[in-house]
Amino acid sequence: MNSNPIGIFDSGIGGLTVVREIRRILPNENIVYLGDTARLPYGTKSVDAIMQYSLENADFLISRGAKLIVIACYSSTSVAFDIIEKHLSVPVIGVIQPGVERAIELTKNGKIGVIGTSLTIYSGAYEKAFRRTNERCEVLGKACPLFVSLVEEGWLDHPATELIAQTYLRPFKEDNVDTILLGCTHFPLLMEVFRKIMGSVNYVDASREVGTKVAEELERLALEHGEPGGDLAIYLTDLSMNFKDIGERFLGEPMRNFSRVSLKGK
Ligand code: DGL
Repeated sequence: MNSNPIGIFDSGIGGLTVVREIRRILPNENIVYLGDTARLPYGTKSVDAIMQYSLENADFLISRGAKLIVIACYSSTSVAFDIIEKHLSVPVIGVIQPGVERAIELTKNGKIGVIGTSLTIYSGAYEKAFRRTNERCEVLGKACPLFVSLVEEGWLDHPATELIAQTYLRPFKEDNVDTILLGCTHFPLLMEVFRKIMGSVNYVDASREVGTKVAEELERLALEHGEPGGDLAIYLTDLSMNFKDIGERFLGEPMRNFSRVSLKGK
């Protein structure tokens, strides 16, 4: 079982930032990644659709022998974490709770801004996680759907991106938030723009915390892979235009072992 892979899924290739972090912290672990590129974006779809897609993604990873599942997609974690956890018998780690815990550690004035896709923000998943963790924080959510397309277009420091970010982030400035949670796979790539607009507030990219959580969980269950390994198999439900260029931007290394998969055929 210990040489079995960690299974990670996302709506597309943005979740490769989580893969990158897990590979940094746990270089021996084998990883199987599924990006549901054929059905993305998730962040603009209904709760029911994303629950169904997420269950199918998790089942695919289990069929590949996953010993632990990481939901690297914030939209999926928002609406499908509970149902996936109930459905599976292996441990499940999402991207919301680890980021919430980190934001609470960092904030001084208790005012936290959360940005994400429309589905993530309107699901109320962050408010729920904050309430569960710390009653005293004031949480301000802002849906920023355009950021996803801007990142995929590679407009990381484009004037249009800056203008849009100014508009989205204005309420955070007015409310004096001191910590911003990046609640979407794509947003860490816009960090420079956020810094330009918001200055030196705290920024939380949960991928680091997720990596640490995975390491702790594997240790707790004695499921670590102690021997050299580190294989990474990437499955995508569609090999769309530019997926490799964009994917490597998220992954931080060449994408070598990738293939297209149809979830129906598994
Ligand atoms: N992966 C999604 C998320 O983190 C962003 C892209 C999408 O909408 O599918 O919410």
